[in-house]
Formats: sequence, C-alpha cells, structure tokens
Amino acid sequence: MASGSGEARRVLVTGGAVRIGQAIVRAFAAAGYCVVIHYRRSEAAAQALLAELGGVQAGHCAVQADLLDCEQVAGLLPAVVRSGGPVGVLVNSAAVYSRRPLAETDARFLAEAYAINFTAPFLLMRSFEKVCRTGAIVNLLDQRVAQADFRAGAYGLAKKSLRDVTEAAALEWAPRIRVNGVAPGLVMAPPNVAPEKMAALIPNVPTKKAVAPDDVAKACVFLAEMTAITGQTLFLDGGLHLLGPNATGEK
Ligand SMILES: NC(=O)c1ccc[n+]([C@@H]2O[C@H](COP(=O)([O-])OP(=O)(O)OC[C@H]3O[C@@H](n4cnc5c(N)ncnc54)[C@H](OP(=O)(O)O)[C@@H]3O)[C@@H](O)[C@H]2O)c1
Repeated sequence: MASGSGEARRVLVTGGAVRIGQAIVRAFAAAGYCVVIHYRRSEAAAQALLAELGGVQAGHCAVQADLLDCEQVAGLLPAVVRSGGPVGVLVNSAAVYSRRPLAETDARFLAEAYAINFTAPFLLMRSFEKVCRTGAIVNLLDQRVAQADFRAGAYGLAKKSLRDVTEAAALEWAPRIRVNGVAPGLVMAPPNVAPEKMAALIPNVPTKKAVAPDDVAKACVFLAEMTAITGQTLFLDGGLHLLGPNATGEK
C-alpha cells in the first residue's frame, strides 16, 4: 500500500519516459500502481511506455509539462487529479545534470541549475501537500549530497537543497505525508556525458559496478510503501558516498 491504508495507488513520476524515470514507472506499474508518466520532450517514448503498460485502459496516462515554467508546475498535479482521480505517490525524478567549477558558476547558471533540480521538485512537493493531502513523496537526489564535489557545483548544491527540504518536509507534513530521498551513484552517463567517461570511473566504486536503473526504481517503490520511514536518504551507489570528496576522481 502507498504510505498507509486507504491511500491512492496512483503515482506521478516526473521525467518518467526515459532512462531511470522509465525504470521507476515500470517498477510502480509492476507493483500494481496506476502510473502517470510525466515528460517534457520525450513524447514518443512516453506513448510507447504507456502502450507497453496497457495504456489508459489499464488506468495509466502520460502528461506533458515543462517544469521550468512555474505555471505548468502549479497546474500539473491539479490537472492529473481532476482527470484521473487521487494521486498517492509523487516521484520527483526529472533533472538536468551539469558540471562546471564554482569559479565559473555565475548567477544565471546557478539559477538554471536550481530551477529544474530544486525549485520544480519543491513546488511539486508543495502542490502534493495541498492537492493530495496524504501519501508519500520520493525525491531523486545524488550520492554527491554526501560530498563536496566542487565540479558538480550548482547541480550538487541544488540536490543538497532538495535533500534538506526532504528532511524538513518530512517533519512538517508528518504524519500525513512521508518524504524520502533516493541518492544514486553511477547509474547511466547523463545525456550530455560520454558513456566511456562513466565506465572509466567504475573501478573507483567499492562494489566495482554501476547501479542498475531497476535497483533505483525498486528503492523508490520501497520508500513509497515502507510506512516506518520518513526523512531518510537511501544511497544506491555501491558505497561511493563513503569515500569522501570527489571520490570517483571525475574531472
Ligand atoms: N544517471 C545517473 O547515473 C544518476 C546519478 C545520480 C543521480 N541521478 C538522478 O536520478 C534522476 C534520474 O536520472 P536520469 O539520468 O535518468 O535523468 P535525466 O535523463 O538527466 O533527466 C530525466 C528527465 O528529466 C526531464 N526534464 C529535464 N528538464 C525538464 C524540464 N525543464 N521540464 C520537464 N522535464 C524535464 C527530461 O524529460 P524529457 O526527456 O521528457 O524532456 C529527462 O528525460 C535525476 O534526478 C538525476 O539527478 C541520476
């Protein structure tokens, strides 16, 4: 059951059409949830995933929204609830990874990194609190929240802020809503990074392997359902966060 008895087994996954978000969508569908697949540009992938899961006939749907547009963020959950009924779980997975030294991080770059990686998920959390009232939120963080990875400056800072608001909201909204974070390590090279670059970092991971998207997805379902846990960050990183600052040696 989602978060407690009587709550809706319907989940909104942002950035749910491709990559890790797609694995999260599949895992919730396999666990018996109706899934709302949010996408921005990946419409074809969202429709293909929707069809694979049985389409609207099976209770699933896909919704488009640009999460950099505050009005679209504000309208997303109310529209999803209006058209398909209550939502019991929100998974904030949409993000944009960027790497730039702090010395080159100007106000505009900082604002852009925060807008998608902190402000949008936070506003969706707030919307969930107002519109859905009860259930569970899972925020996709990054193992860098335990590190001082200065080259992932603005992205890393935004994820740290998201970890902080995960804990704060867990307290403020208890017992109605549980809020947790999943902090992946090396799963898939970001769209703007060559896969070989990530592969070269794997020997530095204590478990010597990349993390499977399915394992990140399983952790999201676990946190959505485990009523004993709130305010927790679950590291899915093969132990990387234990190694300290810039543990992978990534440039
Ligand atoms: N990949 C990893 O190894 C890794 C490691 C640590 C943490 N994480 C975290 O895990 C989560 C998933 O990772 P990922 O690599 O699968 O993410 P990703 O591919 O970088 O991004 C996921 C989705 O975010 C959506 N998105 C980006 N900008 C948007 C906007 N303005 N409005 C709406 N949607 C937007 C995109 O949807 P469309 O394609 O539909 O445009 C994109 O497909 C992220 O939060 C990431 O930070 C990933």
